Amino acid sequence: MTAPVDFTACPRVTGRAYNGANGKKICVAFEGARWMLKFPPPAGERPTALSYTNSCLSEHLASSAFRLLGLDAQETRLGTFRNGREKVVCACRDFTADGRILYDFCSVKNTVLESETGGAGTELSDVLDAIDGQDFVDPAAIRARFWDMFVADALLGNFDRHNGNWGFLVDPATGAAEPAPVFDCGSCLLPQADEATMRRVLADPAELDARIYVFPASMLKIGGRKINYADFLASSDDPDLAAARARIVPRIDPAAFARLVAETPYLTDLQREFYTTYFAARASRLFGVSR
Ligand SMILES: Nc1ncnc2c1ncn2[C@@H]1O[C@H](COP(=O)(O)OP(=O)(O)O)[C@@H](O)[C@H]1O
Ligand SMILES: [Mg+2]
Repeated sequence: MTAPVDFTACPRVTGRAYNGANGKKICVAFEGARWMLKFPPPAGERPTALSYTNSCLSEHLASSAFRLLGLDAQETRLGTFRNGREKVVCACRDFTADGRILYDFCSVKNTVLESETGGAGTELSDVLDAIDGQDFVDPAAIRARFWDMFVADALLGNFDRHNGNWGFLVDPATGAAEPAPVFDCGSCLLPQADEATMRRVLADPAELDARIYVFPASMLKIGGRKINYADFLASSDDPDLAAARARIVPRIDPAAFARLVAETPYLTDLQREFYTTYFAARASRLFGVSR
């Protein structure tokens, strides 16, 4: 098992702040690098009443799952931080520590004057047009990255890959840009499932099916409606999606994900069983992978 870390005594890095609506974040130095510590959002700021969140666990498991799929994603570690009460936090290695600047796709889309909607719009055709219209990075490379991320998000049930949750790293001296590592995976793997929900999903196949075929939906939209992952994967004939599936699906390995879950500290037995089962079920039902 990965050794648990207590980040409480790590030196704070001043002059670095992070935005995002889902909880507090600070920058600390740890093992010679800078890390963003993501705290669980306080109860009053959670999206639904009685809401419960495992978003820090999702952040670590899903970011690590992206890496298992061979995609460039942020490095994460789970640990604790004591500020009054001890909390489990997710440390995300800061990929801008080399001085490059992250421009999220929302701001990049704003530069495309032909785009029909603002930067935040997630209508799929408009997002794809903005990918082709931006002049930061070769559009073919971004299309490939976009669809790779879509496939992984579908596998992990991500309901929050809006245009602020992916982007490009730009060298301010030269203007050279490349896709940023994947970040903000805290809305994968049903972060709002509490213990009772986990038990129901494990015990009742209909409860599990609903969470694969009905929800969560993608942040991307067609005709103003959020994309249902299962329907879209079964019907889309987009050649770039097909190419991404050909790259990613052979790398889906439920046993490797189960090992990751087994190695992850702080999880209860129920959580371990839930994450392993949910991943394997999505791999099998959405992508036909049952190894
Ligand atoms: N690993 C990282 N390195 C550098 N910056 C990051 C990293 N992860 C996120 N950020 C920045 O911090 C912001 C907030 O993080 P995010 O994970 O998106 O939080 P939230 O879940 O609150 O939206 C992001 O929009 C991005 O600008
Ligand atoms: Mg975010």
